[in-house]
Amino acid sequence: MAGYLFPSDFQWGAATASYQIEGSIEADGKGESIWDRFTHTPGQIWNNETGDLACDHYRRYREDVKMMADLGLNTYRFSISWPRIFPNGKGILNEKGLDFYRRLIDELHKHKIKPAVTLYHWDLPQPLQDQGGWNNRDTAYYFADYAAAVFESLDLPVELWITLNEPWVVAYLGHAFGIHAPGISDFSTALQVGHHLLLAHGLAVRVFREADRREEPIGITLNLAPVQPNTDSPEDIEAAKRSDGFMNRWFLDPLFRGYYPPEMVEIFSRRLKLPDQEEGDAAIISQPVDFLGINNYTRVLVESSGSQDDFMGNPVNPPDQEYTEMGWEVYPEGLYQLLTRVHHDYGPLPLYVTENGAAFPDQLTTAGEVEDPRRINYLQSYLQAAWRAIEAGVPLKGYYVWTLMDNFEWAFGYSKRFGLIYIDYQTQKRYLKKSAHWYKEVIARNGLLK
Ligand code: BGC
Repeated sequence: MAGYLFPSDFQWGAATASYQIEGSIEADGKGESIWDRFTHTPGQIWNNETGDLACDHYRRYREDVKMMADLGLNTYRFSISWPRIFPNGKGILNEKGLDFYRRLIDELHKHKIKPAVTLYHWDLPQPLQDQGGWNNRDTAYYFADYAAAVFESLDLPVELWITLNEPWVVAYLGHAFGIHAPGISDFSTALQVGHHLLLAHGLAVRVFREADRREEPIGITLNLAPVQPNTDSPEDIEAAKRSDGFMNRWFLDPLFRGYYPPEMVEIFSRRLKLPDQEEGDAAIISQPVDFLGINNYTRVLVESSGSQDDFMGNPVNPPDQEYTEMGWEVYPEGLYQLLTRVHHDYGPLPLYVTENGAAFPDQLTTAGEVEDPRRINYLQSYLQAAWRAIEAGVPLKGYYVWTLMDNFEWAFGYSKRFGLIYIDYQTQKRYLKKSAHWYKEVIARNGLLK
């Protein structure tokens, strides 16, 4: 085959998250999550939409797994809803909630699809938020207890365990910019939350190593983006370095080097309260993991705002580039840059792209078809970049499209469609988009034609 052939054991997948697809928010004893609370607070979400029904996946999971099998997915990444397992965040395990994931995993195994399980994709039990949420150090320990209970009780094989999805987003969108649950806007709180999330990750890895799942790998998923200066002026270059420290290194360094980047500590300390830490935290946080999951959608291009203390810089959107419906620049080269950089700076470590994809304004035709050539181009170009990274020696083991099916896109409600599968939210009918057919062929030939 002329084109881009991937390694024979490469894992092709698609990803979702509990709150974005499941619905059934009170079924079988599930407790309230911070996203239930947040979406039911008027004015927080586009059109005041909620995940009450979402894709009704909790009831339609069999149909959904069948579609995954039709696509030929090797693996499926989903998350467990903590408040289904512990309605109050802690205490007595709710077997009925766990049973849902047993049924789902069983169904996946029946179709030879390997489950990749994320333990936290943002739906914290509300009772823990009432005690301070991630700003409270205890939450990290409750997370480890929840994780331990899942490791012990979910008595089925799992392909990959992911402790947390995107702690950066939880910390900053949830606690500095206030646009995600729990809707807090305080940068120092966000720093503290980030530290507790990292601690939670490390504690969960520690209990995992004591659990009886030795053959199964565990890691974490970070949202990372290459950060570039808009010009080669020293000011822009410095601004990009600070922004990289904020976006990428603030999480990568403590995980893989055992310390926060010193120059960022200094910059933050001039304006913010640094997170409280305890002796031994760094060692817990930097415990070895078996892989790193990377979510990447775009790059960050910045110019200096004039201030040495500014760790975000001014974002630049070059006019001649393509943008997705999220306003994110299509920049496939960035995935290559990111994978090779992470491998070089933090490896050797197996890597997965645990999310990559694009929202476009898809239209369902009366014939029940969705033509989405821009999504196909997007995925094709990012996969080419991934392939080049593998050629350059990066141990990239798999790739998950975000997302399997259109779903609840957080603050944007249902207004952004990222799926390979189109959902008609009126009828809950599913339709394979053109990109789904395209991805099926990619998987079948284990590569790209051109
Ligand atoms: C998240 C997903 C989200 C996607 C698109 C990632 O930040 O993990 O839950 O839907 O990006 O915004």
